[in-house]
Amino acid sequence: MSRTLLILPGDGIGPEAMAETVKVIDWFNANRATGFEIEEDLVGGCAYDVHGKPLADATMDRAQQVDAVLLGAVGGPKWDNLDFSVKPERGLLRLRKEMDLFANLRPAICFPALADASSLKKELVEGLDLMIIRELTGGVYFGEPRGITQMNDGTRRGVNTQVYTTEEIRRVARVAFDLARKRSNRVLSSEKANVMESGILWREEVQWVHDNEFPDVELSHMYADAVAMQLVRRPKQFDVIVTDNLFGDILSDEASMLSGSLGMLPSASLGAADPATGKRKALYEPVHGSAPDIAGQGIANPLACILSFAMCLRYSFDMGADADLLEAAVSKVLDDGVRTGDIAEPGVAPVGTKEMGDAVVAALGAL
Ligand code: NAI
Ligand code: MG
Repeated sequence: MSRTLLILPGDGIGPEAMAETVKVIDWFNANRATGFEIEEDLVGGCAYDVHGKPLADATMDRAQQVDAVLLGAVGGPKWDNLDFSVKPERGLLRLRKEMDLFANLRPAICFPALADASSLKKELVEGLDLMIIRELTGGVYFGEPRGITQMNDGTRRGVNTQVYTTEEIRRVARVAFDLARKRSNRVLSSEKANVMESGILWREEVQWVHDNEFPDVELSHMYADAVAMQLVRRPKQFDVIVTDNLFGDILSDEASMLSGSLGMLPSASLGAADPATGKRKALYEPVHGSAPDIAGQGIANPLACILSFAMCLRYSFDMGADADLLEAAVSKVLDDGVRTGDIAEPGVAPVGTKEMGDAVVAALGAL
């Protein structure tokens, strides 16, 4: 079975975090006979510097063919003033669009050792493990018509349109129900059906997929503003939350603060399942950006990137036991008190990016 990974370290701290992730992949190849083959290429500002665009066509082609893509981060001040069409972020958007990655999985996990770093009280978040599934390719960020128009009276008008179709909603709902079966068997769907037509459609179509295809999974619905409130009131009530692009953007950022640090958060973006093989196109990346303020200093936290590879093991290769092992290694390192600067408690001397990567590899060997 082929296991080819396309690695796109990107800009800023992306390559620093990715180097530690590659150490972890090498460990799996050497100790668990996983046989991952790695290809590496450019994305973002570094790709612009070489090709004049943030993602070369050849890189795009490889991304379509490999079994999974691992991405670091893109962007930085050097490229901030480029034309919109060639900005580093456009490289990432092109990957998402052409691979049709419509389901964005954002876990919010609170490792016990870091519960004090959460924005909430320890007892509210300790052991938290929820998954937000955000629809990523539709909705108000893409809907037409859109634009800013000059009015005759000299004022301007800004327009965006929230559009969803039956199939766009059903396919992301299926990802949520699928995932729920591997977890607590509960899905909460969120929209604002009280004030939005697209919200009414969302609720009806998710319910349809439930009734026709996943009647065994428990489904409930909650307005997005209520979810925002409950996430800071009693977050452990949730397991899998599925929602649209806009609400998912906001709710997943909110949930990320329950975990403590941006440097701890992985994500996955999944596409349609191939009818023949059942395999989905997939891209895994940390939630954080390129962190120009600390890039090049060797102090970035590589755990979000490493945990993204754990998601890759679980969702692209069905290697749940290996994913569990890697997550346990990260948990052990944190229990042992190893901290990069972003997660260090006052008085704790932080380690660098490399030391954190080495600690994870050592923990893998010891478990
Ligand atoms: P950011 O996530 O890069 O940084 C926000 C803050 O968190 C900074 O103080 C940074 O030092 C810290 N931080 C982030 N990741 C960390 C880690 N692994 N370890 C320790 N500290 C960490 O977000 P920001 O500053 O808004 O954006 C910086 C650049 O990254 C911009 O060019 C932006 O466009 C880009 N960006 C790229 C993303 C991606 O590639 N998916 C996502 C978000 C931003
Ligand atoms: Mg956001």
